[in-house]
Amino acid sequence: MKPTRKHTPQKSRTKKRIAILTAGGDSPGLNAAIRAIGKTAISKGWTVIGFRDGFLGMLEDRWLELKKDDLAGILTIGGTVLGTSRLKPHRMETPKGNVDVRDKLVATYKRHKLDALVCIGGGGTHKNALKLAEKGLRIVTLPKTIDNDVAHTDSTIGFATALEIATEAIDRLHSTAHSHHRIILAEIMGHRAGWLALGAGLAGGADVILIPEIPYDVNLIASAIKRRVARGTKFSIIAVAEGARSIEDTRAYEAAHHAGKSARNDAQKRVARTVLAKLDAEHEDNIFRLSRQLHTLTGLDARVSILGYVQRGGTPSYRDRLIATRLGTACVEMIEAGKSGIMVGNDGDRITTVPISKVAGNLKAVPRDHPLIRSARHLGTNLGD
Ligand code: F6P
Repeated sequence: MKPTRKHTPQKSRTKKRIAILTAGGDSPGLNAAIRAIGKTAISKGWTVIGFRDGFLGMLEDRWLELKKDDLAGILTIGGTVLGTSRLKPHRMETPKGNVDVRDKLVATYKRHKLDALVCIGGGGTHKNALKLAEKGLRIVTLPKTIDNDVAHTDSTIGFATALEIATEAIDRLHSTAHSHHRIILAEIMGHRAGWLALGAGLAGGADVILIPEIPYDVNLIASAIKRRVARGTKFSIIAVAEGARSIEDTRAYEAAHHAGKSARNDAQKRVARTVLAKLDAEHEDNIFRLSRQLHTLTGLDARVSILGYVQRGGTPSYRDRLIATRLGTACVEMIEAGKSGIMVGNDGDRITTVPISKVAGNLKAVPRDHPLIRSARHLGTNLGD
């Protein structure tokens, strides 16, 4: 009779098997994190696999074993060598509607005899990770997004590099602004939180900084620009976060969002979703509307520069490499200690661990009394209010 296989409790199994996936928007530093996790685990004699294209690759069981050679030379490469996607396993969009495919990912996890799954991503990834942890998977996450809007961590992988890129872009936009006596509006990434626009706007010396957390009044922005003209400065630089909205648009957006949250049936949910989708679609052109409004109100020429995906591209800064390496190596230490269901983040130089349940669904928005906001006020930077 075949001897029954002695079940080795995951915590005590020394030669562990772990998997890594990267999900959501790409960002500089992802490969530094993959490298740190992989090298640390391999040095312990563990087996490391990478799922391709985030949760989609795990669903389709597309994977590769990560050996030392696969990790050599990726520290400085932008993006993610594993690929990424925005698949939501608990709510996979299909032509026939949303389908919960989590059980297929659980099967893949078990087939690979994994001791832990490391998910590197932003807000959406943490929601996905929590939904999978509820199915019994042992998951550890790392915070990644250039938006820096993941709750309960100081840093997210990618933010530091994007901040450098956006700051340099604002520096460069000053040339055309003062040469042509123009208003230049620079759109900076950050749909839900204004960390990138606030940081780059301040570091780049923008005259106006618009973020989602402070709905703006276009007349007050125009007045600030006209005061600059009266003082003899005929150009202005405006750093605009993707998610910055006027007071009126914010009211409409919040009303639709509230209607969705308080909907009592599917029909009401569908109506709210339709209204939100329409507002989001209209918001795409917001910065161009703002540009035309400011031209009309100030008489100055106004031009828009969308920084877009340049902010997520290229080699990570030293700071992102250090953050990714610190979090990645600490992640393996936590798995070795038998921990799961946690995000490995930081509080200054201190590594922190927070239950994923506290991170998922929570946004780290810019507080209106944040030191950077206070600094902007002291400098006389207009914040749209
Ligand atoms: O979440 C990071 C982010 O870069 C946002 O700043 C931006 O709005 C979004 O991703 C763009 O998403 P996608 O890469 O799917 O176009």
